[in-house]
Order: sequence, then structure tokens, then C-alpha cells
Amino acid sequence: MPKHITEGDLALLAFAREIQQRAYVPYSNFRVGAAIYAGGEIFQGVNVENAAYGSTICAERSAALAAVTAGHTDFDAVAVIGDSDAPCVPCGACRQFLAEFNPSMRVIMSGKTDAVDVMRLDELLPEAFVRGYLDQDNGDDEE
Ligand code: THU
Repeated sequence: MPKHITEGDLALLAFAREIQQRAYVPYSNFRVGAAIYAGGEIFQGVNVENAAYGSTICAERSAALAAVTAGHTDFDAVAVIGDSDAPCVPCGACRQFLAEFNPSMRVIMSGKTDAVDVMRLDELLPEAFVRGYLDQDNGDDEE
């Protein structure tokens, strides 16, 4: 369900848009910028491609690495902007990666037009595999 878009959402999106041009995309030429709001600070990232295509890092994970490196592991929101006609959604791997740092964070998405979508991460990735599963007794142990 579409959500109300706040001033804060648009401000975070502006940081994603600002950094988008730094994307390193010699193979796809598809530029993605991301910005994460965590601990009252903004962390930006871009997609960084590689000649070994599978070694490419998406913009969202790039921003997440910057936030964690700065000491923040609780994210409030992520904004993503890509070169797509429709607002750019995070890929499956990025949804999982982000869920580690708050499964219900806001996800603000945009593309080449002014259209903006806002969803919660748990709408994009229901039933995420999160650390709680690792903490549970899985029943395999002998008593
Ligand atoms: N890409 C991202 O940076 N984030 C996404 O969520 C979707 C895909 C990048 C990876 C690659 O550099 C390019 O977009 C085309 O797939």
C-alpha cells in the first residue's frame, strides 16, 4: 500500500540523487544512488561494478557498509534512485542485507521521473531470515 511521503523521505532521496552520478557502471551504465538514515546521520553509496560481474556491489549495500563502518547498525530509512523509468526497488540480496539492520525500515524509491514510492522493508521482504532464527533452539540437539 502506498504510504504518505514525508519531507524527511524527500530529503533522504535528495542525498541518494546527489551521489548517484558517482556510480561506477562501465558494464550496465545503470546508475544507482542510495542514502541511509541511521543514528541521525546520512550515509551514501553507489553501485560499483566489476569485470567479474558477480563481484558487483549494489548502491544499497555500499551505503549500508558506510553506515556500519561508521558505527551504526540500526537504520531508520533507505532511499534508492536508479536510472529506471519506474521507481527503482532494491534487489533481493539488498533487501536481505538491509533487513539485518531493521526489517521494518522505510524504503524510499525513485527513478528517472518525479515518481516516488515509499514502502516498509518488511512489505518488500516478508518473513526475512533474521538473527532471531539463529538464537532459537532448532530442536536437533540431543538432550
Ligand atoms: N543495482 C543496484 O545498485 N541496486 C539494486 O537494488 C538493483 C541493481 C545495480 C547493480 C548493477 O550495477 C546495476 O544496478 C544493474 O543491475
